[in-house]
Amino acid sequence: MHILVCGGAGYIGSHMVQLLLERGHDVTTLDNLSTGHRDALLGGRFEFGDLGDSSVLDRVLSSSAFDAVMHFAAFIRVEESVAHPGKYFRNNLCNTLNLLDAMVRHGVRRFIFSSTAAVYGEPQYVPVDEDHPREPINPYGSSKRMVEDALVYYARAHGLQSVPLRYFNAAGADPGGRLGPRHNPLTHLIPLVLRAAAGVTPNVKVFGRDYPTPDGTAVRDYIHVVDLCEAHLAAIDYLMKGGETRAFNLGVGRGFSVQEVIDSAKRVTGRDFQVITEGRRPGDPAQLIANPSLANRIFGWKARLADLDTIVAHNWAWQLKTMGQKPA
Ligand SMILES: NC(=O)c1ccc[n+]([C@@H]2O[C@H](COP(=O)([O-])OP(=O)(O)OC[C@H]3O[C@@H](n4cnc5c(N)ncnc54)[C@H](O)[C@@H]3O)[C@@H](O)[C@H]2O)c1
Repeated sequence: MHILVCGGAGYIGSHMVQLLLERGHDVTTLDNLSTGHRDALLGGRFEFGDLGDSSVLDRVLSSSAFDAVMHFAAFIRVEESVAHPGKYFRNNLCNTLNLLDAMVRHGVRRFIFSSTAAVYGEPQYVPVDEDHPREPINPYGSSKRMVEDALVYYARAHGLQSVPLRYFNAAGADPGGRLGPRHNPLTHLIPLVLRAAAGVTPNVKVFGRDYPTPDGTAVRDYIHVVDLCEAHLAAIDYLMKGGETRAFNLGVGRGFSVQEVIDSAKRVTGRDFQVITEGRRPGDPAQLIANPSLANRIFGWKARLADLDTIVAHNWAWQLKTMGQKPA
């Protein structure tokens, strides 16, 4: 297959490009490098450009007969989306509509969309299945829900079939140590904890120890980036076999608390670091855990790298590499 990967120079997209290449597919990446990195692309063709620019999309989409588009390109910082909603709706919603319209013009009819557990908002129950009400509480989640809604109508009007994949907490790094998260500023817990372990930052903050969870800290479903990418291959397969537009959760189905992540980081790195407790942050639910059984059943997919220490170890190897060190 020839896949167009939008946002392939970012964290999850770069792992996806790598996996597609390893499986023998042709890959073209389109990225404006706003948060991504050119050197995170280890192969395939690269097109520099913005999804807001229809002439770029027409040029790229007419350059080859693409079997599908995978769309990772978005802004992802929840707090920033609250402060700058226009920035988020413009990039995550308007630019995605621009991409979908270009796909319709060029006859590309399969689309894998990076959605998020943030479409659900405050969980009313856990584990969260796909039928859980979608009531996002910030512009980031809202922009993703709007795209999901638009996709239903693009399927009806244009036969453009899509799979929105609702990722829970993406984590980990390439087990071969070639790729990993490079978000700036960092917002993901595991890289933040490992920066403290590496001594890059003086401590790590725990926001809230009074949640109704076993140890009082918030619980999240951490899914390894490689497992996420494997699920994208399964989703393409689903569409190739005639599957219709449908959203799927991608998570492990099990949560780990902030304290468990910290304990794992101390175990894996063999280093101690300071932990500071602060109050809860508004909008942070006590627990966010996926029910991934639909993806298990329909895709035949299951998270394989679900062990927390494995996820942390892969992240740690990447952290050390970016600091020019080797794991002990
Ligand atoms: N990281 C997570 O935990 C997580 C969780 C749920 C969902 N997601 C979704 O997964 C996707 C990828 O996330 P990530 O962590 O890899 O983010 P990232 O910031 O590392 O990657 C996004 C990539 O898209 C590119 N991009 C952004 N806007 C663009 C535009 N208008 N035109 C061209 N390129 C553009 C960036 O340069 C970057 O390379 C996003 O859609 C995000 O909403 C991520």
